[in-house]
Amino acid sequence: MSDAFEATPVEILTPRLRLRALLPDDASAVHAYAFDPEVARFVPWRPHSSELFAKGLIKVITQPQFLNWAMTKPPTDLAIGMVFMHSFSKQHQKAEIAFNLARAHWNQGLATEAVGAVLQFAFQQLGLNRIEALCMPENLSSRKVLEKLGLAFEGRMRKAHHRYDGFHDMDLFAVLAPPRPASSPG
Ligand SMILES: CC(C)(COP(=O)(O)OP(=O)(O)OC[C@H]1O[C@@H](n2cnc3c(N)ncnc32)[C@H](O)[C@@H]1OP(=O)(O)O)[C@@H](O)C(=O)NCCC(=O)NCCS
Repeated sequence: MSDAFEATPVEILTPRLRLRALLPDDASAVHAYAFDPEVARFVPWRPHSSELFAKGLIKVITQPQFLNWAMTKPPTDLAIGMVFMHSFSKQHQKAEIAFNLARAHWNQGLATEAVGAVLQFAFQQLGLNRIEALCMPENLSSRKVLEKLGLAFEGRMRKAHHRYDGFHDMDLFAVLAPPRPASSPG
């Protein structure tokens, strides 16, 4: 059982995005992009599910064991993606990060921008020491985002996840907190 985060998802501004807390009202926007078969290809949920599933997903990831952000692209407030952390361990000062984005916005560096900002928040504000991410070996775009952000491949976990179409291998990536500057003497 993971610990509850001791923080709430504060607003984070990046050059092109506003990250804000994901809300129950985002269900229809999330449904509109997250159940696109291409977006759902490497994630646990089935494509073409109903909006009720999006509501359920938001209900789960807005619990205190998760720390989530909706990606919005000002001036609109529409959720076009999400970044969330889970599997937080207070003892080990680590958590896992996950993300997804509407297909219309792929390959413009937006996920890298959003996930990078959340990693910075996690290291600087939450004081985490290690952040992990899992992705299916075939998910080359997700792997690229992780590598661009400095997460290193640590190994392949065989048949580690089960979803509607069977067991899948999962690749483990992780990044450690940057070294803290030594405090100056005196
Ligand atoms: C993974 C995802 C969030 C990436 O979002 P994104 O905004 O397109 O990511 P970025 O633009 O920041 O980076 C994507 C990189 O992957 C590269 N890429 C895309 N498709 C690729 C492919 N088939 N093979 C190799 N590289 C690929 C892009 O060229 C880009 O790299 P570059 O900046 O060096 O050119 C998005 O594809 C998505 O939502 N996928 C579905 C959900 C998902 O799989 N989430 C992750 C679960 S672990």
